[in-house]
Amino acid sequence: MSQPRTRVPLPVTQHTPKPYQGPDRETLRAKRDAYINPGVFLYYKEPVCIVEGHMQYLWDETGKRYLDGFAGIVSVSVGHCHPKVTARLREQVSTLVHATTIYLHPNLLELAERLAQKLPSDAGLGSTYFTTSGSEANELAVLMARLDTKRLDVITLHNGYHGGSAATMGMTAIGTWRFPVPAPAGTVHVPAPYCYRCPFGLEYPSCEMRCAHSVRDTIRYQTSGEVAAFVAESIQGVGGAVVPPKEYFPIVYEIVRDAGGLCVADEVQTGFGRTGHHYWGFENWGVTPDLVTMAKGIGNGSPLGACTTRRDIAENIKRKLHFNTFAGNPVSAAAGATVLEIIDEERIQQRALEVGAYLKTKLLELQERHPLIGDVRGLGLMLGVELVRDRGSKEPAGAETAAVFEHAKDRGLLIGKGGLFGNVLRIKPPMCLTKDDCDFLADCLDECLETVGKN
Ligand SMILES: Cc1ncc(COP(=O)(O)O)c(C=O)c1O
Repeated sequence: MSQPRTRVPLPVTQHTPKPYQGPDRETLRAKRDAYINPGVFLYYKEPVCIVEGHMQYLWDETGKRYLDGFAGIVSVSVGHCHPKVTARLREQVSTLVHATTIYLHPNLLELAERLAQKLPSDAGLGSTYFTTSGSEANELAVLMARLDTKRLDVITLHNGYHGGSAATMGMTAIGTWRFPVPAPAGTVHVPAPYCYRCPFGLEYPSCEMRCAHSVRDTIRYQTSGEVAAFVAESIQGVGGAVVPPKEYFPIVYEIVRDAGGLCVADEVQTGFGRTGHHYWGFENWGVTPDLVTMAKGIGNGSPLGACTTRRDIAENIKRKLHFNTFAGNPVSAAAGATVLEIIDEERIQQRALEVGAYLKTKLLELQERHPLIGDVRGLGLMLGVELVRDRGSKEPAGAETAAVFEHAKDRGLLIGKGGLFGNVLRIKPPMCLTKDDCDFLADCLDECLETVGKN
């Protein structure tokens, strides 16, 4: 085991990882090169091999422990291998793993009912189609919106991310894809509410929300004048924790609804209490979507996604035979239902609020000391730190971000990296994070920024 020495040590844990007895890292890399599609990328110059997880911590094959500041891109919400989720999964796996929704099963219905109870009660958002991923959930939302409105055009945001399937890759407009991805017919992208790099070169609030109002012109000039749907993340995740001004969504929802469209909130990253003040990201903006898509945190690592909407919108796909082999299988549904229970029992949303605020204050303190930090933003436990070479010109510090990211890993901290220019550190830990973990995380970043700033 080679636990690195850090100024503020990783908080103590009672968990002891099992000795790893699998193939070594080199063997795994060779097998990966031989058998895995090279398009599936790995993080880090020297990729880490993660073999065990417990709550907010991960262990590699040598026994080195990491604080998980990225939770597998927010797919783990309440903690790695949370004992209650694990127990329920064990019980279900040894009872029934039949993957079909053509029979009745209580787990799917338990989860669907719990979800409906969490969505705004007056909005009628109670009809759920389960999936195995966020991409499928977004595709379904678009399908239902098109059938319901009998219109084609779908508006999504620059700098957004909606998935890796053919249609959602086209809806995604972040420059993520290193090869041309034709936007599917009827997909139109509009400028994102990215205040730090305003697409119109303006400043909030004197901008008078130009980005939001520009949606009206897009609909007028780039669509038939009527739209099927507007799809947006409540806070852009892959795009670098881009938080819109509070006026953005109310203005755009009104414009879209005037043009006959439905509004879809992609809550794949922002749902389940992550933003702290609210259970759902869209609630921060005082809007109620017509369709909500979810994935990642809902399953705490299990492949589970969902698209929830009103009954009248859902009725549209009754006209087609709809079936999804693994979606809502009893095992994933058991995980989902248990996650929702834990979020309430362990006051996870409150924790995201309190611990997230504590961490953000620490990151803002780092900004005072490190000129590399141009912007610190985010809500709850969905935070972003944008690095720039010069605070005036905001020249993206892509190489420096990559260096901080590598140094952090060496010191035992895993975080994410993203944003339009790859210059945003993305911090989205499991929501069981403690303030002691935040002290370690902030001090670790402090050391890394010091090292990178000197070079
Ligand atoms: C906001 C958002 N929507 C959709 C997706 C796609 O989800 P999945 O990878 O489960 O298909 C992602 C994945 O990162 C996401 O971040």
